[in-house]
This record gives sequence, structure tokens and C-alpha cells, in this order.
Amino acid sequence: MNTKIIRTISEMRKISSNWPTSVGFVPTMGFLHEGHLSLIKTAQKDNETTVVSIYVNPAQFGPQEDLSDYPRDLKKDIELLAELNVGYVFLPDDGEMYPKNFKTWIQVEDITEIMCGIARPTHFKGVTTIVNKLLNIVRPDTIYLGEKDFQQLIVLKTMVRDLNMPCEVKGCPIVRESDGLAMSSRNIYLKGEDRDKALCLYKSLLLAQKLFSEGVQDLELIRSQMEDIIIQNDGVIDYIAFIDAESLKVVDELHKGCRIALAVKISGTRLIDNLQI
Ligand code: PAF
Repeated sequence: MNTKIIRTISEMRKISSNWPTSVGFVPTMGFLHEGHLSLIKTAQKDNETTVVSIYVNPAQFGPQEDLSDYPRDLKKDIELLAELNVGYVFLPDDGEMYPKNFKTWIQVEDITEIMCGIARPTHFKGVTTIVNKLLNIVRPDTIYLGEKDFQQLIVLKTMVRDLNMPCEVKGCPIVRESDGLAMSSRNIYLKGEDRDKALCLYKSLLLAQKLFSEGVQDLELIRSQMEDIIIQNDGVIDYIAFIDAESLKVVDELHKGCRIALAVKISGTRLIDNLQI
């Protein structure tokens, strides 16, 4: 089957009102990398039909953030999706997604006010609203999301659970470059030595895991050793959080299954990463 490009909500709804088979959905903001492709391949393995959306959602960017600079390459994205034989690519536009009379927002409480939600107070409201809209339009059986945006994954699972949405949320492992940098469309901003410095996120996570496996339980000691690595690489720490992987609550003690999540700016580029202990 050739990849079909769908540009309007009404066209997408016509198709999704009568899916004959199981449907996997991968929402993206484009500028696709191996992380996205691995989500798509998983969706294709699990389902007969796969839908990928590409939409740079203005509502999830703060006023000082990189909406206008966000990397875009629609032609290459569509080529990649056609090579993978993706069934449908949904490309809505701002006028349809946020018409002038738009008034309704979806907001998950508490877990959006910690970690990334502190520096980006309106971000998750934008994410939950757009993903809710996309799920209503595409009507998939399963949505596939990467674990790199771990807080986003838990927030969206919570939305789907609380609103009884008829969709399963599947989190998929982080895909890394060969040296460990978590794949992200924003890595394109890392120029020259910043690319190497950005490895400090993953290196600090690996150090934390090593300390934990050696029996260190003092979280302030682990945090300060992580901070050293990041500061040596000129990283500006937004947060380092030791969290329970289901509730996102900060833990006093690490145990198997906890996550360590962090956000760090390298020369102004905000990067996030996390690791399961
Ligand atoms: O993770 C992303 O790329 C975005 O937050 C998403 C889920 C596509 C919503 O715009």
C-alpha cells in the first residue's frame, strides 16, 4: 500500500471512522530521527495499519521558546515514511487545529507542575490538548510514545486513564546515538564541542547507576557527583530528579524500577534524558 498523505481533519476522520484493522499511531513534530523510526517500526509490528502525524504544536512552546526555529524538513520526513511504507501521514495545519474560536484545554494536574513543568509551565497543557485532539481525530487502538520524554509519557497515560479514552498508551525505549546521546530533533542545535559536552547527561546517569549498583544510597552524594560531571561540561542544570516511575513522586531511596531524570542546558539548548535504575 502506498503512503497516503492526509492534510485535513475531515479527510482523516472519514478514514478513521471505519478502521477495518488495528491501528497504531505515532504523533510527532517531524524532523524524524531513529527514535521516531523505532516507534513507527514497533507500531507497524503490532498493528495492521500505522498512522504518523507531523505537527509542530505551537501550544506546547512557551513565549521564549524555539517554536519558529524548531527544525523542520517535511520533504525528507515524507520520504522516510514512504520508505517505511507507513499507511497514513496526517499533516494538519494551525488554522484547523487551533481555529480563532478555540477555547478548550486539557490539563493534567500535579505531575505537570514538577520537573519540566517548572521551567515550562504551559508545556504539558499544550501536549495533552493536542494529543487529545489527535486521538479523537485518528482514533487509534494504541499510541506509541518514546521514554525519552518520560514525564510526557506518564502525563499522557494519566490523561488517557482519567478521561477513559479508548486507547492504549505504549512507552518505547530511548534510542541513543552510538556514543549514548539520546536522540532528539533538538540535537541539531548542538554545534562543535557542544555535541560532546551534551554527552554529560548520559554520563551522569551512568555514573548514578554505577554508584547505586555499588551500594551507594545517599542521594545527595549521587546528585553531587552527577552535578560535577555536568558542570565540568559547562552544562546548566535545570533539575535532577530521583522519581518513582509510575507516580513521578520524588523518592527518598532508590530502588529497582526508579528513574533518574534530568534536564540540562548546553549552550542554551535544553536537553532531557533519563535512565531506569
Ligand atoms: O513528543 C513530541 O514530539 C510531542 O510532544 C507530541 C507528542 C508529538 C505532541 O505534540
